[in-house]
Amino acid sequence: MKTAKSVFVADLFDANEPKKTPITVSTLREAEYFADGGYTDILYAVSIEPGKFTRAAALLRQGVRLKVILDNIATASALDEFAKQQDTLFHVFVEVDVDGHRAGCLPDSQELLQLAKSLSSAPNIELLGLMTHAGISYDSENIQQAFEFAEQEQQRILHARDRLLAAGIEVNYVTIGSTPTVVAAESFAGIQEIRPGVFVFFDLFQAQMGACDESDIALSVLCAVTTHKPDQHALLIDAGGLAMSKDRSTAAQNVDYGYGKLVTLEGEETGLIVNAVNQEHGIVKLPEGKLCAEYPIGTRFRVLPNHACMTAAAYDSYHVIDANEPLANWPRCNGW
Ligand SMILES: Cc1ncc(COP(=O)(O)O)c(C=O)c1O
Repeated sequence: MKTAKSVFVADLFDANEPKKTPITVSTLREAEYFADGGYTDILYAVSIEPGKFTRAAALLRQGVRLKVILDNIATASALDEFAKQQDTLFHVFVEVDVDGHRAGCLPDSQELLQLAKSLSSAPNIELLGLMTHAGISYDSENIQQAFEFAEQEQQRILHARDRLLAAGIEVNYVTIGSTPTVVAAESFAGIQEIRPGVFVFFDLFQAQMGACDESDIALSVLCAVTTHKPDQHALLIDAGGLAMSKDRSTAAQNVDYGYGKLVTLEGEETGLIVNAVNQEHGIVKLPEGKLCAEYPIGTRFRVLPNHACMTAAAYDSYHVIDANEPLANWPRCNGW
């Protein structure tokens, strides 16, 4: 849920009352927000650290099955000690590093065995299993490469699980995922949970990698032409760095969309991109043969984002539309 961060989007997946679907979030703020929205099974998937124990315990006391992740003995011991003092039980996944891209114990490491052993014998901790996020999938140039990273993600985490099982440590739950690896994978044998996030909206980066079609992109920023700059053969729009984010992930792909790609309100191609940004201004250079006069001041476009998570983060709600007719306004949460 770390892309949309909206109960209204989550409810598209789970219309039950009470909510049954386990969700994953990326901040404690989100965990608190979704708990208020009725979600009671929540994985907070950024390494926990002592400064956050009190807030995490408050959610547990509220009846939320909050699950946390960690990858080192120091945090594990501190958490067990804290849980004892609070007379509570923490639910913990060990994070496994399957590609050198982020946190986690290496699948073949002694550290992994030691950590899992100490967690499984800690009285105030329930060891739930293993989790990973294959960040390397963001290096994929196409969906075939994402498939190879998906195979690697699954092989390595299942290898880690098998080592723990062989050492007599109960690990029955394996949670994996990034959007590219989950879209590309052909099977999930042995995997209990997948955690794609950006797939709820998709974006230009995912489309160019082949994880979706451009017509699948469900998030855009509505903007207007504010100024003509004929001397620079450019337009200014009112969507700049804050509106789009400064994510430049498509710069590493075949087609660089600058800070976003302009389409018409109906989603048709314009041949324009946001080439540069200031805080509130976007600079759109016109292609050869195009004139400012073809785009009168006030002309509206939609800008498709490079990275939906980063773009959405600047907004406190979504305007939900169908063929440009407003249907609803869905709030979201931000912050930590
Ligand atoms: C731990 C974790 N799980 C799941 C996701 C979702 O992956 P994606 O953004 O590729 O959809 C992320 C994204 O950063 C993550 O860090």
